[in-house]
Amino acid sequence: MNTNSSRTIKTYLAPMEGITTYVYRNAQAAVYGRLDKYFTPFLEPHEKRSFKKRELQEILPGNNRGIPVVPQILTNRAEGFLELAGTLQDFGYQEINLNLGCPSRTVVSKGKGSGFLAVPEELDRFLDKIFSGLEKRQTAKETLGISVKTRLGMESPEEFPRLLDIFNQYPLKELIVHPRVQKDYYNNRPNRGMYRLAEQKSRTSVCYNGDLFTYKDVEEFCREFPEAQTIMLGRGLIRNPGLLAGEMTEQEKKARFRQFHELVLEGYRKQEMGDRNVLFKMKELWFYQIQEFPGAEKAGKRIKKAQTLAEYETAVLEIWG
Ligand SMILES: Cc1cc2nc3c(=O)[nH]c(=O)nc-3n(C[C@H](O)[C@H](O)[C@H](O)COP(=O)(O)O)c2cc1C
Repeated sequence: MNTNSSRTIKTYLAPMEGITTYVYRNAQAAVYGRLDKYFTPFLEPHEKRSFKKRELQEILPGNNRGIPVVPQILTNRAEGFLELAGTLQDFGYQEINLNLGCPSRTVVSKGKGSGFLAVPEELDRFLDKIFSGLEKRQTAKETLGISVKTRLGMESPEEFPRLLDIFNQYPLKELIVHPRVQKDYYNNRPNRGMYRLAEQKSRTSVCYNGDLFTYKDVEEFCREFPEAQTIMLGRGLIRNPGLLAGEMTEQEKKARFRQFHELVLEGYRKQEMGDRNVLFKMKELWFYQIQEFPGAEKAGKRIKKAQTLAEYETAVLEIWG
């Protein structure tokens, strides 16, 4: 993405469980142009079995052709991480992302996601095990890059400097910082002061993530952080998948949105998940997308209430006008 100051910023699509699926990623890249990286929603290592069908679909190379995809792993067990990372490397992936940000109670109570940040010594041991494990294995294989997506801590941003010291001991490929703590969930504002600390102190390159909802937000961020090189967008891009695609007339914007919508809908239909599930997935997208269509509240309500795909499609037609 070129900003007004003609600085080039790398842009990533954030992982969002249930939303940034391979169907979504492909449609986004096809209609609006490829971003620099796309992260999969988190995958978890399974002790007794291999991938679930849904997980396998996410990472099959045939489903991700021509798109720079980084699979994300959620775990606090080094053995499980290494095994799954090895399988993903065999699929051809060169980078794996570790999820240290998920704030959900079920994940955190098991000491995973942002819950792992509450036990820095264990996190340190985990990272030590995975990097020494990878080193042993990589004599025969190409190097696998490990990046981290993290929050600032569990309770307080003051936990972050210590975590940053730990990250700095390892050759991370990249550090993605969503500057909130677990207990914020998505409330309060991202703590940009702590992001600045990461920019100043991190040994590896840093990517900013959090609350960049509009192009104006992106520009303001770039002005505030002239050294920033990479941003990751989640909800803002879901709301407006063309957010980073440059200026468009209202007409063109709508036409492309429509084309994008068709591709996503078709993609889910082809997955044979059943109409009810397709409907559910499309409704989930409109929770964000409807904000891009001021004045379309009525159609938005109809989409929400739709019981069948036919009802859904009629409601969506109202949006395109
Ligand atoms: C519905 C939903 C699902 C998410 N799933 C994941 C996930 O699988 N892995 C992850 O690291 N973050 C996940 N996140 C967090 C986003 O990647 C991102 O960090 C967060 O939304 C903040 O960025 P934003 O303000 O640009 O949306 C999820 C967020 C939401 C709202």
